[in-house]
Amino acid sequence: MRITGTGHASMRIDTGAGSILCDPWVNPAYFASWFPFPDNSLLDWETLGDVDYLYVSHLHRDHFDAEHLKRFVSKKATVLLPEYPTSQLEDELRDLGFTSFLKTKSNEVHELDGGLKVMIQALISPTDGPIGDSSLWVEHDGVRVLNQNDARPTDLSVFAELGHVHAHMLQFSGAIWYPMVYELPQAAKTAFGKQKRDRQFDRTWRYIDDLKADHVFPIAGPPCFLDDELWQFNDIHGDEGNIFPDQSVFMSEYAKVGGTNGVVLLPGSVSELTTDGIETTHPTDVDEFFASKKAHLEEMRERKAPIIAAEKASWRHPEIDVLGELKKRIEPLLEESIYLAKGVGGPVRFDLVSYDGDAVESIVVDFPGKQVRPYADEKVRYRFRTQRELIEHLIFIDEGDWVNSLFLSCRFTAARIGQYNEFVYAFFKCLSEERLQYAEGWYDEHEKTVEAEDTQLGDWTVQRRCPHLKADLSRFGIVDGNVLTCQLHGWKFDLPSGRCLTSVGHKIRAEKATS
Ligand code: FES
Repeated sequence: MRITGTGHASMRIDTGAGSILCDPWVNPAYFASWFPFPDNSLLDWETLGDVDYLYVSHLHRDHFDAEHLKRFVSKKATVLLPEYPTSQLEDELRDLGFTSFLKTKSNEVHELDGGLKVMIQALISPTDGPIGDSSLWVEHDGVRVLNQNDARPTDLSVFAELGHVHAHMLQFSGAIWYPMVYELPQAAKTAFGKQKRDRQFDRTWRYIDDLKADHVFPIAGPPCFLDDELWQFNDIHGDEGNIFPDQSVFMSEYAKVGGTNGVVLLPGSVSELTTDGIETTHPTDVDEFFASKKAHLEEMRERKAPIIAAEKASWRHPEIDVLGELKKRIEPLLEESIYLAKGVGGPVRFDLVSYDGDAVESIVVDFPGKQVRPYADEKVRYRFRTQRELIEHLIFIDEGDWVNSLFLSCRFTAARIGQYNEFVYAFFKCLSEERLQYAEGWYDEHEKTVEAEDTQLGDWTVQRRCPHLKADLSRFGIVDGNVLTCQLHGWKFDLPSGRCLTSVGHKIRAEKATS
């Protein structure tokens, strides 16, 4: 089996029974904030896109690049479609010209022509990707790979049970706006960022240890930030709180925990994988490449500047009445929302900064009051501040997922009183009837599930499944004093009270074990 690195989470898998292109991403995503790192735009995409199968793991724009798919990927390719609760991914691919779909069943092996076997695990909670994220397992001729991509399954046993895996590709770096956008003193941001960076690596080690593959490929990040306004987010400034460590940092951290089987793929690197070993060739020396990362980014910044400028020029739509349009679009959803609205529990304020930076219009999405209205000098727990033109553009393109656009762009600042509230982001990724209904239904079922099974962690008997997304706490839970941390997403719980210290709600059942 041949694995060709094509940048970020993307790779091409060639077997004797056909080729699969995964998540090709080249054009900037999220308001021209994220670019693939290292640059992959100069690869021979005509050839790479001439494949038998296409796998798009989910709809995040650094995995689903509509422009690129349309232009470069053969429409004869059969799409290996994850089993998602909504048809949005299929619909968008059909709009681009794909007509052949293999609708997979989650966690079921599908045998294709020539003995090629694939299995896709679809994760479908409202917090997984834009309502859905997935991993792809492939087997041919006794060689097995798991492209976990940036999905966070509670465990990997379903893949391990299919036989020893030879190559495991997974995310290790950050892909979120926390903590950089928070209006906090720099020292606090650094401390939170450092914690997050450590947690990302801990989670990665855990997955690697779960699967024990022969070879481990760090993929799916980090992106790079080429706009001057975001340049500081690149991990080139010696900031220990930066959440975007690159593949070379992965290799040195992995070595510290005893890892010796890491393989870095640059765009254009090729690994020939067998059941006995791997041989990898690179387009350039990998160590030298990372040693001159800053120069690479600076060169990219200059080359991509016209693309960023053109995107920025398209965002302003002064004719749009932002408050009126938000009322029209969001109020009906507030009216229908039970769980998400209750979970948010208060008003969320958006401060929109005018084009010249002089004026600020404050708009409140009032969840209890079920209305969108001007800010009324009240106390709010959650506040976002961004450029008015970004919201105008979201309205203009009728964007139904502000996480997969505004928030991932990092082109905003945020402040909150108290804990992180996942319902705020879940709501703003569900600004369509179909998505909102799905999320409401999911929380409804989730709430009703009684977690009966317990597990023993140190002196404590706790419910076995994490109240967040059901990770098995006998594997992911760590108790330090009275605090339990679930390492899947790093959420913390105060065991004596059961209170979740990370987010609103999500109480855990716990009891000090008696002798
Ligand atoms: S499953 Fe997310 S923190 Fe436990």
